[in-house]
Amino acid sequence: GAEDGESGGDTYTVATDNNFVPFEFLDEDTGEMEGFDMDLIRAIADEAGFEVDIEAMKFDGVVTGMQSAKYDIGIAGMTITEERKENIDFSDPYYDAGLMLAVHSDNTEIESEDDLAGKTVATRSGTTSESYLQENHPDAEVETFPGIVEAYMDLQAGRVDAVMYDVPNVQYYVANDAEGELKTVGDILQGEQYGIAFPKDSELVEDVNEALATLIDNGTYDDIYEEWFGE
Ligand code: ARG
Repeated sequence: GAEDGESGGDTYTVATDNNFVPFEFLDEDTGEMEGFDMDLIRAIADEAGFEVDIEAMKFDGVVTGMQSAKYDIGIAGMTITEERKENIDFSDPYYDAGLMLAVHSDNTEIESEDDLAGKTVATRSGTTSESYLQENHPDAEVETFPGIVEAYMDLQAGRVDAVMYDVPNVQYYVANDAEGELKTVGDILQGEQYGIAFPKDSELVEDVNEALATLIDNGTYDDIYEEWFGE
């Protein structure tokens, strides 16, 4: 529900994920949630004239929090899917993503998703990677983790054979956080688009879409993109 914020605008609760680099993660120095999604939702709030109260949680909590209308807005690199649209409203798409595989740098057996039969593939529970694996790779053993970092660490330690997850997160983690121990393999497996989520029939969808369109037009979106994905 909306409350009056300091600026006089309404304050809305925003559910986000606790660890999905570079979209949302805790900045240890500031104690604030930072990342592409965080900058975007703060810019949207500025543009639309409301305040946000950001709460970080496990990804499945964001999805169920939208279904139960526990929070006003959800932003967590959430893929717009037909199934989710039955219970959740989405903004216009704001980011093009997809799924990708990572393996240990020493691994020469897995070069693409065609090599997954009999292998253990880790991902985060409740995500599109989990459903993709269930639908397309019944011969692989799927291990789901409450957080993706655990999956990557098990991959580095050789306890699982591969991780499947969102392209931007896999690429970012492999490049910045894996200490050279992991590599990506194969093509983008399934094109996906992220949307900002709302409880069904939320009146905020229109305002957020309008603000998003303005930020795309006036270059703010590009600035935020550049900050997190630029060279
Ligand atoms: N895009 C995928 C999905 O919607 C994974 C999202 C994971 N996001 C996160 N913040 N951990 O299922």
